[in-house]
Order: sequence, then structure tokens, then C-alpha cells
Amino acid sequence: MERIDVVLSPGEPLPPADVWLVVDILRATTSIVAFFDGGGASLTPLRTVEEALELRKTWGHQWLLAGERGGVPPDGFHRGNSPREMLSGSTGMRLLFTTTNGTEALLRCAATGHPVYAACARNARAAAKEALRRGKRIGIFCAGRHGRSALDDALCAGLLVRRLLEEGMHPEERALSCGDGVRMALALWRNLGEDRFHDAVAEADHAEILRRLGLEEDIRFCCDIDRTDIVPLLGVWKDRPVFSHPRERAD
Ligand code: MLT
Repeated sequence: MERIDVVLSPGEPLPPADVWLVVDILRATTSIVAFFDGGGASLTPLRTVEEALELRKTWGHQWLLAGERGGVPPDGFHRGNSPREMLSGSTGMRLLFTTTNGTEALLRCAATGHPVYAACARNARAAAKEALRRGKRIGIFCAGRHGRSALDDALCAGLLVRRLLEEGMHPEERALSCGDGVRMALALWRNLGEDRFHDAVAEADHAEILRRLGLEEDIRFCCDIDRTDIVPLLGVWKDRPVFSHPRERAD
């Protein structure tokens, strides 16, 4: 490992990186990981609801619409953005997926042309291993909330940095090269995350909104650490960024 950077707020310019781990722990990237964990076939991240509705007309009705605005499924959508729902009944499913912050974050990193993985607490160790396999400069991009940094994503970034250090730090690499984003994420993780990850995430603004929607159980689900080895990678299909099931990948 040569360098890690953490982009804590989605408006920041991107540092150079060979590989990106994109984090929207509440809930988009957790939902994507759960979807493939549950046997989902393909998922394409999209910026807008209108784009998803249009694309379904072209790609066909085997593609279902999923995502959220304000935490709830947009009108006419088949599924919301609950990772618990994604884990069950997804076998063979194809999704056109749009969320408020998460899908935008994925597409922003995809535009760099470097590999982009969906990362969250549930696949933290596996995502760290996969990133280390892919490149020497690893970027962690926090989706945040409405253009601002978010406590929940920053804590998850701290967990991912921890896992990168555990999995990739060889004795000769002790002088890790990193930016302040890494130092801040690690400090948060050490102070708040290590012993009480769920409680700290549950204090975030976005957690409050999910609670008001009666989605407390989603927060718990998102805070389960190292539950799966599934690390979805964005590929390209019909000129668009698309995740396909990791076990179907050629690499
Ligand atoms: C987002 O992308 O903004 C989130 O995943 C919203 C949500 O909790 O569904």
C-alpha cells in the first residue's frame, strides 16, 4: 500500500487514486451489497428518477425500479432502498437504482475511469482486501448528505481505513502516506466507532430521518460489521456503469 485518501465530503476535488471504495452506509451502498448478497443479478446506478423511468422503456420490463427520495420509494417504483428488503427475494433480479446521494457518489467516482467498489460496514474487510489487490493508491469516497459530510459515512470510512491497515500494512510500510481525511476518519473511528459503532451511527442526521420513517432496523442492519465477502464492482454494460453479481465477474 502506498497511499490512502478519504474524501469526507462529496464536493471535494478528488485526489488521484487507482481504485475507489464508495461509502453510503445509510443506505445506498449497504443496499447494493445486500442486493448481491441476496443473489441479485445486475444493478445500474442512476442520477434521477426520470432517467430510471426512461431507461426501463429501452432496457425492458425485466429491469425493476428501486431507490428512494426522502427515504421512500418514488411513485411507480417496485422497491425502496431498504437493505433488509434487498437481501431477500433478489435472486436473478435486475435493478435500475437511484438514490439521493449514493448513486451520485458512485457515478462521480466512475467518471475517473478507475475501478469503483460499493463498500459499507457489512463488507468492510472484504472491500479492503479487494482494494489492496487492485491498486496502490486507494481512495475512499463518502457520499455524505446533500453535498455535506455525514457522521455515518465518516465513521464507516474510519472502519475501512482500519481494515486496510490490518490487511495491507507490511512492516516496511509503517510510515503510511495519507491525507488529513484519513487522520480524521481514523480519529472518529477510534473515539466513537470502535466500541459503539451502532450508537455513534444512530446519532447521525440521516439516522434520525430513518427513525422517523420507522426504519430503525435498517440502521442496525447497516451497522453489522464484516458480515459478507461480496464486494460489488462497477463495470460497463450498454455504455453505462452497471454492477453485476461478483461471482459472474471475469476477474
Ligand atoms: C442516499 O443515497 O441518499 C441514501 O441511501 C438515502 C436512504 O437512506 O435511502
